[in-house]
This record gives sequence, C-alpha cells and structure tokens, in this order.
Amino acid sequence: MGDSIKQKQIIIAMTGASGAAYGLRLIQKLLTADICLHVLLSDAARIVLKQECDLRLPESASETATALAQHLGCDTNNLRCYDKYDWFSPAASGSSNIQQMVVIPCSMGTLAGIANGMSEQLIERAADVMIKERKQLILMPRETPLSAIHLEHMLKLSRLGVDLIPAMPGFYHRPESISDLVDFMVSRVLDHLHVANMEAKRWGE
Ligand SMILES: Cc1cc2nc3c(=O)[nH]c(=O)nc-3n(C[C@H](O)[C@H](O)[C@H](O)COP(=O)(O)O)c2cc1C
Repeated sequence: MGDSIKQKQIIIAMTGASGAAYGLRLIQKLLTADICLHVLLSDAARIVLKQECDLRLPESASETATALAQHLGCDTNNLRCYDKYDWFSPAASGSSNIQQMVVIPCSMGTLAGIANGMSEQLIERAADVMIKERKQLILMPRETPLSAIHLEHMLKLSRLGVDLIPAMPGFYHRPESISDLVDFMVSRVLDHLHVANMEAKRWGE
C-alpha cells in the first residue's frame, strides 16, 4: 500500500445484488489509476461473483486480495481486503484518511442496513462512518421492481447527501456488448469520484 497521507484511498464494497461485473470493473479501473483500495465483500457478494463471473474467492482476506488481483490482471500493491467483522480496519473509523466509499453493486439488504444505521458488519459500519463524517458515499443499488421500502431508503440516504447511481445503463451510446454497458455505469461512478476517465463516451463529444 502506498503513502497513506498523499495517495487517494477509496473503500469499494461489493454486496449480493446482481451486477458483480460493475464492482470488478471499478476495482480494475481504480487500481490502474494507482489508487489505494480497501475492498469489502459481503458473503452474498461472494456467491454472486461465483454465479455471474465464475470467480471463486478464498475465505481469508489476504488470499482474497491475491485472487482478486490475479483475476483482474492487476498487482496487489494498492489492494487490501478485510474480513466482514474486522473492526480494526481503517474503514471502520472516522479517523482514517479515506474520503470516499462506493457500494457496487448495492443489495436492498445492505441499502436497508445503511439507511437504518445498523453497522452490524464492516460494510454497513464503513458506510455509517462516511455519512457521519460527511464524506462521499456512492451507492449503486440494483433491484427491479423497486418497492416503497427500497425507495424510502434511497430517498432518506439521498437527503443525507449520499450519491445514488442505480445500475441503469443508458443505451444512447449504442452499446455492442455487456462490457460496454458495464463501462457506461462504471464511467458514471468514476466521474463522481473525480477520477480521470479518458475512455468514457460522452454525450455531445
Ligand atoms: C445470483 C443472485 C442475485 C441476486 N440479485 C439481487 C439483486 O439484484 N438485488 C438484491 O437486492 N438482492 C439480490 N440478491 C439477494 C441478496 O444477495 C440477498 O438479499 C443477500 O442477503 C444480500 O446480502 P448482502 O447485502 O449482505 O450482500 C441476489 C442473490 C443472488 C444469489
């Protein structure tokens, strides 16, 4: 891990909603941009990664980092993974130098946990910290159709300043592959994180 004072650090949480490819692509893009990542995976995220991406991750956090980096063709220098109850990780405290967090994809279960300040596992706790410290929290919720419960949670969080970027790719750039659709959504997240993304297709350019 690089110089924690100067280097940008971001928490990336993946949960058990469909769309694991969004999370993997974002991690790959941010590692390529030399950003330090603190990656948190829910148990359900591991199941979805296996189902959707054929990616079976080991249980231990350090082995997960190695397997993830290998899968993405990146090195592990800027990548840390943590167990779901690792309250000693930087993500668990407001005193850390981490200013941004993305939950991608975000399940309705984790959305509910965050909206209600549950802090039962590290993902919810880290999100709670971002909200209380008035740092940047981005959620990419994925479910369809949405119930009033889901919508109320999203409205509550939006009013607290949380960025909601739902997994709803546009089609006006004429995607030719699933990868194009994934990149569309990941580009929107990179823009909100203020990370340069020269490959993004932009309207009017
Ligand atoms: C393949 C698969 C796809 C799923 N897709 C969704 C989804 O799109 N949205 C959602 O809210 N839950 C989805 N679920 C259910 C969640 O994984 C489940 O509610 C889980 O408890 C969420 O836990 P987590 O928030 O800790 O990740 C899916 C589960 C599986 C196995």
